[in-house]
Amino acid sequence: MNAALHSNLASSREAFAPALTRWFKHNARPLPWRENYDPYHVWISEIMLQQTQMERGVTYFQRWMSQLPCPRSVTQAKEDEVLKLWEGLGYYNRARNLMRAARVMVDRHEGRVPADKAALLALPGIGPYTAAAILSIAYERDEPLVDGNVARVLARVFDLDAPVGETATQKALWALAGELLPPGQARDFNQGLMELGALVCKPLNPTCETCPLAELCEARRLGIVQHRPVPGKKVDITALSIATGVLIHQGRIFIQRRRDEDVWGGLWEFPGGGVENGETPEQAVVREYAEETGFAVTTLGPIRVIKHGYTRFRVTLHCFFLAPVNGLGTPALTAATEHKWATFAELDDHAFPAGHRKLIDSLARDSRFAKLLGQDPLL
Ligand code: ADE
Repeated sequence: MNAALHSNLASSREAFAPALTRWFKHNARPLPWRENYDPYHVWISEIMLQQTQMERGVTYFQRWMSQLPCPRSVTQAKEDEVLKLWEGLGYYNRARNLMRAARVMVDRHEGRVPADKAALLALPGIGPYTAAAILSIAYERDEPLVDGNVARVLARVFDLDAPVGETATQKALWALAGELLPPGQARDFNQGLMELGALVCKPLNPTCETCPLAELCEARRLGIVQHRPVPGKKVDITALSIATGVLIHQGRIFIQRRRDEDVWGGLWEFPGGGVENGETPEQAVVREYAEETGFAVTTLGPIRVIKHGYTRFRVTLHCFFLAPVNGLGTPALTAATEHKWATFAELDDHAFPAGHRKLIDSLARDSRFAKLLGQDPLL
């Protein structure tokens, strides 16, 4: 921490927490887990909100709770059911870790979310941020936390001039959050910081006029709010061209389940894969079907091209209608653990990666698809 930060901290720290917690009391959104701060609710909400917009998180949270109201119910659910509840949120390891962590809660913690830091950190999917969120928000322990919103608020109020993603800055931010935290008020203080970052101290166009910390904000005084936090290194986005296809036979559609260890492990998909150099997307989908299932297929025409981004990839998904060129028999699966010939309605009972779900959604409106389902070339 630099000298300027120290002196700013000294003058602002007294006023910081009271202004923030007062603001939070009047401006907190009525989120469902804030009704009673049940530790299970707080845990699930925190995992869902990682990489997920609030509005979307609330919808998924309510659906999850209506089916899985406690850790024991998570252990009793089928993996497919849990993945289906997670479908569309992405980062499916979060769902698998929830299942593993729920198992530990049932086996070692009487079916409850533990209130102990070491026990929380030992659970799959729970790191320092989530442990601190559960301890402070659910159990009202004096644990500071820093997420992206908190980092931005602190970087602005205290004019931090290093990228907040760097390890040294993270360390300074956690220490600063700890120094500012008023004992006994961690629930409102931590949530207040996150809420302020989400509603007022936004990345673009922050509404400083309505900020309870405006008077204390060093970046605002210096007129450099838009330059804080200092940007970090840009992640390189890789473009991927993928070909996939919907194979229809006797009114049913071929789907396969991805291996657990692969990306989107355990989810269902239409076979497919990367378009190689010198290959057209049509050639790629025919080759991929042969490699992944042993089926000889032919394309019956394009369905659509879906553009879809995830983590550091920008995917262009070329989608085709497919038909078998001769008898099919049992597939020789090389990239999946099981397969099904599903009716169109049955696709909805399975969890698919977002790109494939978009493809299914467009099939519902495609008159060619309706025709193909009823008019199998081999019939
Ligand atoms: N983002 C993640 N957790 C949150 C919380 N408890 N309140 C507001 N925003 C959040």
